Amino acid sequence: MSRAVLCTLPLPAPAPERLAAAAEVRVLGHIPTEAELAAELAAGVDVLCAQLRDPVTTAVLDAGLPRLRAVSLFSVGYDNVDIAAATARRVVIGHTPGVLTDATADCALGLMIAAARRLCEGDAVTRAGGFHGIEPEFMLGLDLRDALLGVVGFGRIGQALARRALACGMRVAHSEHGGAPPPVDLDGRVTAMPLERLLGEADVVSLHVPLSDATRHLIDEAALRRMKPTAVLVNTARGAVVDERALVRALREGWIAAAGLDVYEDEPRLAPGLVECRNAVLAPHLGSATVRTRSTMAAMCADNAVAALQGRVPPHCVNPSAWAEGAPPPR
Ligand code: GLV
Repeated sequence: MSRAVLCTLPLPAPAPERLAAAAEVRVLGHIPTEAELAAELAAGVDVLCAQLRDPVTTAVLDAGLPRLRAVSLFSVGYDNVDIAAATARRVVIGHTPGVLTDATADCALGLMIAAARRLCEGDAVTRAGGFHGIEPEFMLGLDLRDALLGVVGFGRIGQALARRALACGMRVAHSEHGGAPPPVDLDGRVTAMPLERLLGEADVVSLHVPLSDATRHLIDEAALRRMKPTAVLVNTARGAVVDERALVRALREGWIAAAGLDVYEDEPRLAPGLVECRNAVLAPHLGSATVRTRSTMAAMCADNAVAALQGRVPPHCVNPSAWAEGAPPPR
């Protein structure tokens, strides 16, 4: 029996070639519902190459058994996968850590500058014929130099943003929320503070925590009300870390000055009213969207899948314990 790989969306090069050398590959071409994905896996799939919007639930994993041995994600985040259920069923989960750190930090920096300096709002004004020449008090924004950046979640991406912010002359604090101690080059240049204090003091708050039960709506109405009315919120992590309806009120009513968003609670849908908030910069989940980064992610995704097909633990595996002592799972 030949090995079967299902990709929900087409992957960039070099993934198609690497996968085709190891298995029969089928590409669905869209993000399936839970029932559709379950039906696809029930038809017999060894490895699912999944996107971060694919619902890899207990029901989906069960439908894939006994044949499904791995899910190889084309993302670093894996909040769409029931990891405990996968581990219990000895399905290994691959992902793409490390390679999208700089691209995502660049995106966060871009959103921070665009929101703080009202660049997208200014673009809209200019296109609408509202630019009548430079005026002393027209569209003033926030200076980044000496402003305090509060990084919530001080992992790889949060640290990469901190380096960029320091180069812009910002001061940097990070919340103690689950973060690792600062690496040597940032030691002494960043301040750790509790989240509540950081929210009250930061001029820019940038979110870099994974989505989990502990971080869902971490930035809720109370957190938004704690921020300065001049502050900017940046989110390149996961939409549901923010209560998006509360954020719309915060932007409308001036609890905060602006937001730069790359992710949304219910992608691709946006909370009612968000589109009308001119003080929000809204990017369509572009954090890792560069040619080189996506190609590197595709290679990692394929390599994780091929490893599982060949009876090896994927090199970038979220739950290696699902694969007992390096031996292929019993199938
Ligand atoms: C992007 O959001 C990712 O998790 O890779």
